[in-house]
Amino acid sequence: MGQDISSYLDGLLLSNYLNYWDYVNVDTLLTLQKPKTDFPDELIFIIYHQITELYFKLSLHEIEQIANNGREIAANGEDKGWNEELSAQYFLERVERINRYFEALTKSFEIMVQGMEPEQFKRFRMALLPASGFQSGQYRLIEFASTPLYHILQKDVRDDIKDKSIEEQYPYVYWKKGATEVETGKKTLTLEQFEAKYKNEFISWIKRFEDCNLWKKYKSLDENDPLQEKIQKALRSYDLNVNVFWPLAHYKSAVKYLQQQEGDAPATGGTNWQKYLPPRFQKRIFFPELWTEEEQNEWGKGWVVQQIFGSGKVDN
Ligand code: HEM
Repeated sequence: MGQDISSYLDGLLLSNYLNYWDYVNVDTLLTLQKPKTDFPDELIFIIYHQITELYFKLSLHEIEQIANNGREIAANGEDKGWNEELSAQYFLERVERINRYFEALTKSFEIMVQGMEPEQFKRFRMALLPASGFQSGQYRLIEFASTPLYHILQKDVRDDIKDKSIEEQYPYVYWKKGATEVETGKKTLTLEQFEAKYKNEFISWIKRFEDCNLWKKYKSLDENDPLQEKIQKALRSYDLNVNVFWPLAHYKSAVKYLQQQEGDAPATGGTNWQKYLPPRFQKRIFFPELWTEEEQNEWGKGWVVQQIFGSGKVDN
């Protein structure tokens, strides 16, 4: 490094021992929960959202490394920089990691579904208007970095605008449709504020990942690699985890807390959530080439029947 090693050793002798609480930043972490009301269950709501955002961060961390072909750090800690080529093994391992993060999130969603008193939830959520998990920027970054934008456009316009520029396609991203007011059909405040904060960042992110999103990186691997079968399986799980299992676990909480005897409670974002959230309506599929036509047509159906409505008859 061209530096004086004994000065560094002096520094090492003088510095304090590393503690767990400093390394993990526990004190700061525990200052980040700031309920807006006195209802005790609001703390569960905040912390569970924060846990989810941390898992999203981990997922993006893996995606970023795949996009850059992985980084080699030598045994002596030296950073050798990004690799020239992506290895199939590396790709597989990272996709499997994200699958585990999403499996943990899907399973732990019971913390929301079972873990709060509905009466408290109904009261404290009114203090949170018009904020909504809909405004999770990281959730959208994961989507944009997983697949070409075309795959997550509203399904009725997808084919017509397939060859248009990113700027022209962006207004038709599937979630714009969800954030419309039930009453007026206009953009919700939740969406307007979300766009004001993130639109430019999203467009540059989509451009950045145009050639290195997960699907493109998968296509760059050798078609005859012996790991192909395992990789396809992992990508199919990824598609289900992000686009069916997590959304359904989440939908289950909306049903539990917002469904009422007479008409459904409007969501805090004021959206048409019953028509929007179920995966069978959104039909978001990151990797359609890995699914048969029948599987695509049945997207999101079986699980919702079993998990949310029990085994009884369901009016789809
Ligand atoms: C009791 C718990 C929850 C309820 C009742 C609920 C309800 C809703 C509703 C109704 C929407 C539709 C948009 C709106 O009208 O606001 C929505 C969207 C969303 N929520 Fe939640 N949510 C809950 C927990 C969570 C948690 C813990 C997260 C984690 C970050 C989250 C993330 C999201 C995301 C990412 C969307 C957008 C989904 C999409 O566009 O497909 N929600 N939520």
